[in-house]
Amino acid sequence: MVKIALLGFGVVGSGTAEVLTENKKIIEERLGCAYEIKYILDLREFPDSPFGSLVVHDFNTILNDPEVTVVAEMMGGSHPAYDFTKACLMAGKNVVTSNKEVVSTFGVELCALAREHGVRYLFEASVGGGIPVIRPMINDLSSNKVAKISGILNGTTNYILTEMRDKGTPFSDVLKEAQRLGYAEANPSADVDGIDAARKIVILAALASGKLADPKTIPTEGITAISLTDTHVAAAFGFSMKLIGHAALTDGKLTAFVSPRMVPAVNPLSRIDGVFNGILVNANMVGEVMFYGPGAGKLPTASAVVADIIDIIANRDADPKPILWEAATDSDMADFAGYVCRRMWILKSGAEIPAALAFDDMKVVDDTVALLGAPCDEATAASIAKVLGESLLSVYRVLD
Ligand code: HSE
Repeated sequence: MVKIALLGFGVVGSGTAEVLTENKKIIEERLGCAYEIKYILDLREFPDSPFGSLVVHDFNTILNDPEVTVVAEMMGGSHPAYDFTKACLMAGKNVVTSNKEVVSTFGVELCALAREHGVRYLFEASVGGGIPVIRPMINDLSSNKVAKISGILNGTTNYILTEMRDKGTPFSDVLKEAQRLGYAEANPSADVDGIDAARKIVILAALASGKLADPKTIPTEGITAISLTDTHVAAAFGFSMKLIGHAALTDGKLTAFVSPRMVPAVNPLSRIDGVFNGILVNANMVGEVMFYGPGAGKLPTASAVVADIIDIIANRDADPKPILWEAATDSDMADFAGYVCRRMWILKSGAEIPAALAFDDMKVVDDTVALLGAPCDEATAASIAKVLGESLLSVYRVLD
C-alpha cells in the first residue's frame, strides 16, 4: 500500500483528492498496487469535506512518517512550498507538483536533490494544466533536438483575450469571471503580466536545452495594455491576439520570452480559444507536433498531478531516471536585440510613416492605421518606435 500526502487543499489539491478517490479502482487495477491518501496539509479545517479527517496542520507529521513515500505539493508560491519540497526529497520521499513558480525558480537544485536521494521530482501539472507535455517531451521526443517551442501557456489570459475578441467584454470583467472559475492565480498579476507564462516557457526550454533560465530575467510582457481596438486590428488582418511563450535554440544559444502576438489564421495556435492551451514544438526528427488541451482548472490540473503519482508508483522498483538541468548563464542566452519577426504597427490615423518602416499591408481600423510590417529585429523595431513617438499606439510581434 502506497501512502500519499497532499500539501495544499485549494483548487488543485482538492481536485487531486477527488481524482485519486473517484478513479481509485481503475487506477489501482492499472497499477496492480493499492494506495491511500494518508494526510492533507492545510492551514484550514474542512469539516464538510469527505477528506476533512485527513487534514493536518503540522508539516512534520508528514515529513517524519516513513510510511509516506509520495508527496504532492499543490500549495502555490515559493515559500513554504520550496522548503517543504526540499525537506521531503532529502528525507527520501518522491515529490510531484503543479507549482511552476517553484519548478522554474528552484528546479536545478530540486532535480539534483531528487537524484542525490534516489527519488523523483515530477512536475507534469506545472505546464499546460491537464495537457500531457512534460513527460512526452522527456520521453517521446528524447530522440530529437528541439529547435523551437511556441505556446499559449496561460489559460486565464487566453480566456480573457477570447472573451474580449468574441464578446467585446472589457478586460476587468472577464478577469473576474476567470477568477470565479478557478483559472487565475491567487494574485492575477502573475497571469495578466505574463509571469506565469514566463515560468512555464523556461521549464519547457529547460527540457529542450538542459538549461533553466531565470524566469525573472527573460523579456516578459502581459496583456493589460491590449485594447479592444487591437483585437479589431487583429481580426481585420485575419489574425488572433494571443499571449505566447516562445523559446528557440539557435547555434547553442537560447532565446526565451513572453509577449502578446498576432497569430495568423494558418498557425494552429490562432484557433486555440478560451482556457485551452496549445504548445507547438519543432524538433529535428519528428518535425512539428502540437500539444493541446485544458490549460487550467481543478480536475484537468489534478489529472496531471495524479499522472505523476501513478508514474512514481508504477516505477517504484526501478532506478529513478534523473532530470539533469543546469542554471542558464548569460553566455547560454541569445541576444534578444537580434530576434527577427514581422510586426503589426498600430498608428494614430494621419500619422506620418517613416521610410524605415517597410510594410506589406495597411488597413484603417477604428481610429487607427494598422501596418503589417516586414520582418525586422528588436533593435530596428525599437528605433522605428522612437521615430514614430506618440503616433504609435501599439506594436505587436506576429507569430509566423
Ligand atoms: N493561472 C494559470 C493559468 C493556472 O491560467 O493558466 C494554470 O497554470
